[in-house]
Amino acid sequence: MVQYKLKKYNGEKVLVYGKKKIKILIDKKQLSRRIKELGQEITRDYEDKYPILVSVLRGSFIFVADISREIKIPVTFDFMAISSYGDSKVSSGIVRITKDLESSIESREVLIIEDIIDSGRTLNYLIKNLQARNPKNVEVCALLDKNVPRKTENKVKYKGFDIPNKFVVGYGLDFAEEYRNFPFVGYIENE
Ligand code: IMP
Ligand code: MG
Repeated sequence: MVQYKLKKYNGEKVLVYGKKKIKILIDKKQLSRRIKELGQEITRDYEDKYPILVSVLRGSFIFVADISREIKIPVTFDFMAISSYGDSKVSSGIVRITKDLESSIESREVLIIEDIIDSGRTLNYLIKNLQARNPKNVEVCALLDKNVPRKTENKVKYKGFDIPNKFVVGYGLDFAEEYRNFPFVGYIENE
C-alpha cells in the first residue's frame, strides 16, 4: 500500500505519494485560522437570520463541515452537485446539475458554500439557477479564489484565500477524484 508521507525538500514541506510530490500551499493551521474568521464574520452578518447553507458537492464537503461549526447561529443545510470538469484539469464550460437541492429555498437567505472559483462559470450558473427559485437573497462563501482573468464581476462575499493560477488539490479538492482527503491545499509539483 502506498502511504502519504510528509517530507522536507529545501526547507519546504512536501507530501510524497508514490512518485508524486505535492507542495503545500495552505497548511492545516492557516486553513483553520481563516475559516474561524470567516465563520465569525458570517455569524455577525446573519445574526437573527436563518440561512440555508447550500454546499456544492463534492469539492466543498470538508469546507462546509468545518465552516459550519464556526457559524454560531441556527442554519440548515442542503447539497447540490454540479459537474463541469469530468476528469480533466480544464473546465469544459458545460455546467450540469447532477444532484439538485432537496429543500425549497423560497424566501430563504441562501449562502452558497463553494470550494474554489476558477473561471467563475460554475458560480454564475449556480447563482442564476438559485435566484430563479425566489430566495430572499443569495450570497457566496468560497474558500479559494484563483487568480485568473475574468470578465464577470466577483460575486464572492466571504473569501478564504486568493491563490495563484495553479491546479490545486486537497481539503476536498480532487484531481480525478483523488487527493480530497489531504488536510491541506497543495499542488502536484512534478507533472
Ligand atoms: P469554474 O466553473 O471554472 O469556476 O470551476 C469551478 C469548479 O471547478 C470548482 O467548484 C471545482 O470543483 C473545480 N475546480 C476548479 N479549479 C480547481 C482546482 O484547481 N482543483 C480542483 N478542482 C478545481
Ligand atoms: Mg466544486
